[in-house]
Amino acid sequence: MSRMLPNLISSMWTIALVAQATDDGVKLAISPQGPLNKASGENVYLRCALVPELAKTAVTDIRWQDPRGDLISGSTREGDRIYSQTSDTASTQLFIMKLQKEDAGDYVCYANFPGHEQLRSTITIDVYQDIEFVDAPAVQNPVSGELGKITCEVSGNPAPQVDWLRDGTELDTSGGRYKVDTDGLYITGINVEDDGEYTCRAVVAANGGLKSQKIKVEVHNKPEFTVDEEPQNVRGIEQKTVAMKCGVTGRPVPEITWVFLQSNSEDNGKDVTKIEDEQRTSHHTVDPVTGTMTINDLQKRHQGDYKCIAKNPAGIIEKIASLFVAEIPRFDIVSNTTESEGGSATLQCTARGDPAPTLQYTKEGQLQSFVAGADPRITVREKERELTLTINQLTREDDGLYVCVASNEAGTAEKSSHVTVKFKPSFQNTPMHVAKTWLDNKIAVNLTCIAESIPNATIRWEKKQRNEMHGAPFLLITENSPNIVIEQRGPSSSLLISPKTIDDFGVFECIAANEMGEARHIITLYEATAPGPITLVEFAEITANSIRFNIDGPNEPNNLDLDSYEVYYHEAGDSMDTAIKRLWPIGTPYTLENLKPRHSYFFRFYAKNAVGLSINSRDFERTMPDVGPPRPPGYIPPTNESIDANRYRLQWTEAEDNGARILDYQVKYWKDGEKDKFRVVTVPAPASHTILSGLSPSTRYYYELTARNERGIGPAMNNTFTTAHAPSPGFRAQSVHRMVDPSDYGLLMSTPVIIGIAIGSLLLLLLLLDVCCYCGWKRGVIAFICLRICGQSKNLKEEDAEKRTIDETDLHYEKQPLTTTVTETTLKTTYREAAAELEPEDKPSP
Ligand SMILES: *[C@@H]1O[C@H](CO)[C@@H](O)[C@H](O)[C@H]1NC(C)=O
Ligand SMILES: *[C@@H]1O[C@H](CO)[C@@H](O)[C@H](O)[C@H]1NC(C)=O
Ligand SMILES: *[C@@H]1O[C@H](CO)[C@@H](O)[C@H](O)[C@H]1NC(C)=O
Ligand SMILES: *[C@@H]1O[C@H](CO)[C@@H](O)[C@H](O)[C@H]1NC(C)=O
Ligand SMILES: *[C@@H]1O[C@H](CO)[C@@H](O)[C@H](O)[C@H]1NC(C)=O
Repeated sequence: MSRMLPNLISSMWTIALVAQATDDGVKLAISPQGPLNKASGENVYLRCALVPELAKTAVTDIRWQDPRGDLISGSTREGDRIYSQTSDTASTQLFIMKLQKEDAGDYVCYANFPGHEQLRSTITIDVYQDIEFVDAPAVQNPVSGELGKITCEVSGNPAPQVDWLRDGTELDTSGGRYKVDTDGLYITGINVEDDGEYTCRAVVAANGGLKSQKIKVEVHNKPEFTVDEEPQNVRGIEQKTVAMKCGVTGRPVPEITWVFLQSNSEDNGKDVTKIEDEQRTSHHTVDPVTGTMTINDLQKRHQGDYKCIAKNPAGIIEKIASLFVAEIPRFDIVSNTTESEGGSATLQCTARGDPAPTLQYTKEGQLQSFVAGADPRITVREKERELTLTINQLTREDDGLYVCVASNEAGTAEKSSHVTVKFKPSFQNTPMHVAKTWLDNKIAVNLTCIAESIPNATIRWEKKQRNEMHGAPFLLITENSPNIVIEQRGPSSSLLISPKTIDDFGVFECIAANEMGEARHIITLYEATAPGPITLVEFAEITANSIRFNIDGPNEPNNLDLDSYEVYYHEAGDSMDTAIKRLWPIGTPYTLENLKPRHSYFFRFYAKNAVGLSINSRDFERTMPDVGPPRPPGYIPPTNESIDANRYRLQWTEAEDNGARILDYQVKYWKDGEKDKFRVVTVPAPASHTILSGLSPSTRYYYELTARNERGIGPAMNNTFTTAHAPSPGFRAQSVHRMVDPSDYGLLMSTPVIIGIAIGSLLLLLLLLDVCCYCGWKRGVIAFICLRICGQSKNLKEEDAEKRTIDETDLHYEKQPLTTTVTETTLKTTYREAAAELEPEDKPSP
């Protein structure tokens, strides 16, 4: 109670005073004085107080009201932007934190004064706003073909004016491509050429405000497929590689993704680079630059649709293309067949593959495949993925591998099946029908038979029993006996026999049997003996010191072949005990050499085989002829190396000398049809070849080759040769490099050239001598000629003539062996003489 009393007194006083003051102009005063123009964001402080102050005790309820007419309360909460604070009855304060645009308006301060009208005072707060870029990103990417807007939204109070610059130059926005709107700049038909640095500039004339914003513009293009590089349907081949294109342009460069679409695949909808096979390897790759998708080691499961997606900030495009994977043909199991000869075999092959493969049967080793109707024995039936080949009346030739070839666009596959044609054994390739051996032969005789058959035959041997009646039985041979061995090697069987008694010879039978039947082959084993007597001995060719014999027989088909002939010979007067033995293997020349001319000999002959010697022939006697000119040289056929276009290397075998050493060989040769223009080459023994040079190409030449010994010139060996074609330039180069036997040229040099040089020297010497003689004693040829001319003494003349004749004959003799053209008659006589000395011998027969 004691506290309430002063309050009551005080209010009573106030009422009295206010009534007084109002009369004196009591009012509310706001400071600072308005109106206020503040930038948004600023803080505002206002104070409202009663004036004069003495009346303050009378007023009550002083407060603020905001522009909307709401009472502004005292701050009770943290964060209230606008609040009042009343510290005594006569004044109140208003705090506005961070002034906002909507805070603008009239703020009214009220107070009640008893007995008066309500006191009030108003202050107007204006909020102005600075220029602000509400939405004007510093980097913008308008898309070509679209609105072409460069956003620049500006706020400000008062509203700012906006204009634009590009790369520092003011844009003319009065019509044309540019249009300025409140939210930015619009460019019609915007494209990459509109790239640049733009400036959005805002000004407020009322308060001089100016702000600008730089905007970097880079126009974007939507992704688009490049011409001809759009995804397209493709066909790939199993195990190979395939590529699908997805060429795209766009700005910025679009990112490319390929997606697999195959509803029944677990990879359906996957990014292809995420697809993996069982080995966790990826077959798909995508080139980030070209967009091409590559699939390696293609599998059938890669078949399906693929979607290429190209995306950049400006847009997204996609296209689906399908991939077909051609599947390599594969075979189901192919089986082999075995059929009997005369039967029929059916082969069938089925192959899988996509697209369905075409099928063909071919026999291994043949080029042509089987076609229906080509061979009446063979039928070919074809169904989808299945081919059937039937061969009727099978022959042994039908045995072999049959290849089924399946092919489609992915490739070719082959599978072979074997047709085995069973047939009964056959001995058609067994050459042996007879065999021969003899008792106690150290080496067993080998009876071999070869039984062809399918399947392999079993082979046994039987022997016809001796000393039995007609139809003697055959008995199976076993290896029980120690002198018989049976060797079986594949289809061939060998019976090895070492006969111990005469019963071991006879008729043997080789029997081969298989499920198809059996075959028999007889081999007769004959007992071989020493040969019978020789049937023919002839003196075929006799020279002064050699004899060549013709020997024949005995001819014994069931006996062993002859190994050799033997001759024992001795001079008349000696006995056979002192005879010399000579052995000739069969087929060699049966020639005896080193016999003495004009001596008589006795000869005795034997034939020999593996068993032994025949009985001896009768004795032959022969007196050797006197020494004479040699026999003709032997012919050696030309080789490719010996014939050239312009030269020929003539070769021969040594002539038999007929008792006197051969001195030289002479070749007389001429062109076909020009025998009178022959040429002659002489080479000293023991040469066995010479080179005929300076020949015409492609020409046939005849020649006669003779040997000469001191008894004269022997008969000629006549023959011909033809020179090669004139070489082409290429061939010439080759023939220059051909190896040449240096002795060929050596010979050419050694005979004619050396002799020529010798003659030349001799002539020179004679001439010198003659000159000397003439100078010294007025003698010699020159002197003679002088005498003849000048008419000098006859004595001198005769002496000199004699000397000259000798000189000339020497020259003539020396000239002979040179290559010269000699008259035909001279030479013919020489040959006649030589031939006369070799009259043919009479041929004795045994
Ligand atoms: C068929 O014969 C061939 C060759 O003789 C052989 O390689 C193949 O294994 C055989 N096939 C069958 C199924 O027996
Ligand atoms: C027997 O002759 C055959 C055929 O000529 C041959 O293959 C085989 O090796 C010979 N056997 C013996 C033991 O000489
Ligand atoms: C049949 O003979 C051949 C040739 O000697 C041989 O290679 C093959 O193994 C034989 N076959 C059988 C089934 O004995
Ligand atoms: C020799 O030439 C002939 C024909 O030019 C040729 O057929 C033959 O094979 C050749 N012989 C040799 C051994 O070069
Ligand atoms: C070789 O020819 C000559 C003459 O042309 C002739 O007399 C001679 O009988 C012939 N010789 C032979 C072996 O033909």
